[in-house]
Amino acid sequence: MSHFIDALHCQNKLRPPIWLMRQAGRYMPDYMAYKNGKSLLSLFRDKKAIVDITEMPITHLNMDAKILFSDILIVLDLFSIPYDFVDKIGPRISKVWSLNDFDHFDLKKLDFLFESIDLLVQNKNKPLIGFAGAPFTIASYLIEGGSSREYKKVKQLIYSDPKTFYKLLDMLSDAIIQFLDKQAESGVSALQLFDSWANILSYEDALLYSVGFLRKIVEQRRHKEVPLIFFSKGSAPYLEQIIQTGVSAISIDWQQDLMRVRKLTPSHMAIQGNLDPSIFYGTKEGLKKAVDTILDKMQGHPGFIFNLGHGIMPDAPYEMVKFLVEYIQCQK
Ligand code: CP3
Repeated sequence: MSHFIDALHCQNKLRPPIWLMRQAGRYMPDYMAYKNGKSLLSLFRDKKAIVDITEMPITHLNMDAKILFSDILIVLDLFSIPYDFVDKIGPRISKVWSLNDFDHFDLKKLDFLFESIDLLVQNKNKPLIGFAGAPFTIASYLIEGGSSREYKKVKQLIYSDPKTFYKLLDMLSDAIIQFLDKQAESGVSALQLFDSWANILSYEDALLYSVGFLRKIVEQRRHKEVPLIFFSKGSAPYLEQIIQTGVSAISIDWQQDLMRVRKLTPSHMAIQGNLDPSIFYGTKEGLKKAVDTILDKMQGHPGFIFNLGHGIMPDAPYEMVKFLVEYIQCQK
């Protein structure tokens, strides 16, 4: 029995399950000790590290689901496109890309990850969530060569050569579909698609490049028995269109009113969210109040999954995170 799986099927009659985006990371003293100067990329490619770090938030914080310790950029391995993670800066992709880079696709390049999934699901403590970056967000990293504030190069391509941009997303989405399906075959209980940067798009472009490719992924993936959660920031203007794709669950950012979300969402669709990740910098009283507000808005919805509205901050005080998990888990 799992609160998390029940909630994904909108059949949870108990307290809501909780897990946090980026739950395996730097706010955890155990993660920092484990990392101990090792490069992030070496951890992402090491089966034992993947398993050990994925289990940390279960062992130490008793989260209701474990998310695979990997990164959205790992999909670039399928095309042998090199990338790196620079300390305090983030992802870096030095190669200048071209559409030809996507001719050679080899799912075997990620065998170590599928084998890690295999190991992780043998431990039946908590359900495992697999994931991928959405085509738009992956393309943004590729085009910018890393994180960006304004995504100028992405916008330049969208407005100067939309055909090439669309083709790039289309090729990436084909790979992402196979990547998600293979994770499902390897045994994950759920999948999440991260379109973290879709909020920089105009309304029309968000429909085309974010929602459009979500629809394609929902329709073309084979393992529909494994629920798919969709996360993007700033999705309020086109929430209805996201819902219409038929995705299994929607993950909501912290700026949205969950009451409105609940009213717009059909009863068979699960809802995940949406505590402000910065709440941990405040007091326990403030945290409780914010959680109570969310729980009130969801009114015991059988498909509600408690989470943050975006990934946890690297310097979130550990004690506050622990307090949150305990507070949710003592709800009736
Ligand atoms: O949620 C989890 O605990 C699972 C693992 C996970 C990571 N990245 C590990 C990671 C997941 C689900 C991701 C997704 C991811 N990666 C996203 C989408 C979610 C989001 O937050 O919007 C994005 C945009 C990335 C790209 C990425 N990876 C960035 C921008 C950075 C650097 C920024 C930062 O936080 O330092 C990373 C590095 C990264 N990926 C870390 C972790 C735990 C940092 C760890 C470290 O430096 O030790």
